[in-house]
Amino acid sequence: MTAPQVVPHHIAIVMDGNGRWANRRFLPRVAGHKQGVDVLRRCVKDCAQRGVSVLTVFAFSSENWNRPAEEVSGLMDLLAMALAREVPQLKADGVRLFFVGERAGLSAKVRAGLAQGEAATAENTRLILNVCFNYGGRWDITQAAAKLAGQGAPVTEASLAGALALSHVPDPDLIIRTGGEQRLSNFLLWQAAYAELYFSDKLWPEFDDAELGQAIAAFNQRERRFGKTSAQLKSPDGVAPSMAEAQKC
Ligand code: IPE
Ligand code: IPE
Ligand code: MG
Repeated sequence: MTAPQVVPHHIAIVMDGNGRWANRRFLPRVAGHKQGVDVLRRCVKDCAQRGVSVLTVFAFSSENWNRPAEEVSGLMDLLAMALAREVPQLKADGVRLFFVGERAGLSAKVRAGLAQGEAATAENTRLILNVCFNYGGRWDITQAAAKLAGQGAPVTEASLAGALALSHVPDPDLIIRTGGEQRLSNFLLWQAAYAELYFSDKLWPEFDDAELGQAIAAFNQRERRFGKTSAQLKSPDGVAPSMAEAQKC
């Protein structure tokens, strides 16, 4: 009998590959981003169905401002449109939305949409969806340090973690990146410390529940040691058997 699979409590995804998906179809890059929103809608449902508690997605990085102006404005319009269209369904599905990132650089319209989306879903408890937009791990660590400095608070691991933009959720258990690249691109630099990483060759617009299942299956094959030894994890009291005891076995 195979043991039942553990569902990661918190999954984070770098949704990469929209541009290549569009290029292959001779479509403008923004068409790939539109398709990406449809896939995210499906993925949120699949995660909720599978019992995931927190889903964090990377939608626009601090560095994505450096893309052509047309693509950047297309992404801003898409965010505003997606907010208007998706929030009622998210609300009905029990999803609580959080926007994670620097809001100052965003238009008043987008900022108002973000605040409304968060307020409309604030009572929901089935799944937390963190949308990282205008987000970078370095931005987050810097703003957290600046917050503590402003308060004259001591800097400890716990105080810094508490000042980060994702302090409302535990660290991710599994980080998935689609699109074939094997890098973090400034995503969750602090929180990734002990996450399991899964890289998929599928482009984000091709990601589906079967691929999510593959990632969860791979996660179940990993041994998360958090600095301990394998033997420590296997002994019932969490203490590694001494050499003499081990030789008795
Ligand atoms: C990820 O897809 C979405 C954003 C960065 C906004 P890309 O747009 O980076 O797609 P590729 O990597 O160029 O294919
Ligand atoms: C990371 O993808 C950002 C998002 C998915 C939002 P990029 O496409 O921007 O990353 P790089 O430039 O390939 O590292
Ligand atoms: Mg990319």
